[in-house]
Amino acid sequence: MKKLFLSFTLFLFGSSVFNQTSAGKFYIIPEPVAQAEKPGNFTLPKNVNILRPAGNENDITVNFLKEKLSKATGSKVTVRSSGKSDIQLILNKANDTMIGEEGYILSVRSKKITIRANKPSGLFYGAQTLIQLFPAQIESEEVVNNVEWKIPAVEIGDYPRVAWRGLMLDVSRHFFTVDEVKQYIDAMVRYKYNMLHWHLTDDEGWRIEIKSLPKLTEIGAWRVEKVGNFGEFSAPLPNEPKTYGGFYTQEQIREIVRYAADRFVNIIPEIDVPGHSLAAIASYPELSCTEGADKYNVRAGEPFMDWSHGAPPIAFIDNTLCPANEKVYDFMDKVMTEVAQLFPYPYIHVGGDEAPHNFWQKSPQVQELMKREGLTTIPQVQSYFEKRLEKIVQAKGKKMMGWDEILEGGITPTTALMSWRGNKYGIEASRSGHYVVMSPTTFAYIDYMQGDVCTEPPVYSSLRLNKAYQFDPVPPEADANYILGGQANLWTEQVYNIRQAEYMTWPRGFAIAESLWSPKDKKNWENFVGKTENHFQRLDYAETKYSPAIYDPIVNVMKKDDKYYVELTTEIGGLDIYTSFDNSTPDRFYPRYTELLLVPKDARLVKIITYRGKVPVGRLMTIPVDDLKNRAK
Ligand code: ACM
Repeated sequence: MKKLFLSFTLFLFGSSVFNQTSAGKFYIIPEPVAQAEKPGNFTLPKNVNILRPAGNENDITVNFLKEKLSKATGSKVTVRSSGKSDIQLILNKANDTMIGEEGYILSVRSKKITIRANKPSGLFYGAQTLIQLFPAQIESEEVVNNVEWKIPAVEIGDYPRVAWRGLMLDVSRHFFTVDEVKQYIDAMVRYKYNMLHWHLTDDEGWRIEIKSLPKLTEIGAWRVEKVGNFGEFSAPLPNEPKTYGGFYTQEQIREIVRYAADRFVNIIPEIDVPGHSLAAIASYPELSCTEGADKYNVRAGEPFMDWSHGAPPIAFIDNTLCPANEKVYDFMDKVMTEVAQLFPYPYIHVGGDEAPHNFWQKSPQVQELMKREGLTTIPQVQSYFEKRLEKIVQAKGKKMMGWDEILEGGITPTTALMSWRGNKYGIEASRSGHYVVMSPTTFAYIDYMQGDVCTEPPVYSSLRLNKAYQFDPVPPEADANYILGGQANLWTEQVYNIRQAEYMTWPRGFAIAESLWSPKDKKNWENFVGKTENHFQRLDYAETKYSPAIYDPIVNVMKKDDKYYVELTTEIGGLDIYTSFDNSTPDRFYPRYTELLLVPKDARLVKIITYRGKVPVGRLMTIPVDDLKNRAK
């Protein structure tokens, strides 16, 4: 890829221009492969003419530009099939191998803009880059006056590092409406994501209509509504109404699939089995090996697994489909028949993660299955299930993908893997010739906290922006030929609404996007931070929520000789930190943090804020001293 990048750069700019590329001048996320400033500027006229290439599928980009360039600017945009233009989209007649399927060449000159690509998706990504060259106000839904819609002349040549650039949205733990899913897709395409992994089923709700199994959504889509710390709720009482939930009708699923396709986004549906299946079992208790499953309810966020011994968890109630029950395979057949018809994408994700062993271990049916099939371990039992499931999926004309646990009992021959417990399983699977998508917890779990726990809904782990930025979807030890790409995963136990889903996604979604699209040696943290701040303004105009946690300090507490000390550091440079222990709100006239702070003996609270020069940029953080003491190492 490096060689390709170099020759591409030479091709674009001539041998001497490699050093003239001007990364950092523009605020493009993800960073393009090559860019060079040219003399002059382009100013958007009041009447804009766009020249479209032939072919209906190209209207996606034409219509996108028409809307985007008129809404905030108030310009009149006319689309033409011939004649003079200000912006011309060109579909190459002869394939330009340098830019591949999704790449583009964007040329901005003072009189004219052209976007050239081999395929319609390349035109779309070129248009996304073009929009990022305009002032941040271009993202506004309303006309913004007194803006000069001027952009510097530039030549940009670009193509993605990996083909699968995904975000996973869990709609089971919390439900997101059709419009909210579309809103999420709108935000992701700005950053050239092209895969939505739609986690449609779990213990907390079944969200896809299956016409042949109506109880899945009559019963499985609904639970008792609770708010607070999901996972710590009281158990629902038998008479409490099940008012929280929802599902997508098949018509709505088709609508979203179409909406995504119109933005060059594929959707991979996930039906998470054999674990994470309580909503299905609450609907059809005969799918369980365990007696009393007819009393099970869709989980409402009460504790139901013990993770204290690590994986697999010990389940308090059996949330697994019974691998020894033929009815389960009939069920899966019905589900996959309808799922396969709804989603054109060649893969179906079948989950496979975190299936507890403890109920299977004591099930007479599972023991009988083990004896009959010569299985000696519980992972082999799961593997038996996965192999049968793979046959069902393939019979529907689809390929199967699953979480990395499906490697454990011997992987099915042609299944693709999504590596989440670090890179290890993905590396191993790629080397044995299985296609892999990398989404390791270490870099890509955007349900984890991105700031201090005093500003975030509590989650058991953290992932700061700078760590997400280190994501490498193609680890050197892997067989790169089998790495499809990577994705970030948004689990939504603690995400109750679309605003919080956005907050969790951005700016870490910028970091993951750049890791998936840009050449590895084009990534640069300082440059990226500057771009992130620029894109905060863009998201402000778009009214998309994001986390400002990069401005908040990282708090470490140490204990020495019965005394507690607070260490404060920042994720980005150029910030000053001010603190108080006297319960008042600090500003920049308070003591500036320079060294470890001794927590005064009788202090009750520490309050912390960051400034850039005279401007407060961080959120006021208030942490009780008792909390600090609990954090002490
Ligand atoms: C997972 O995070 N359980 C795939």
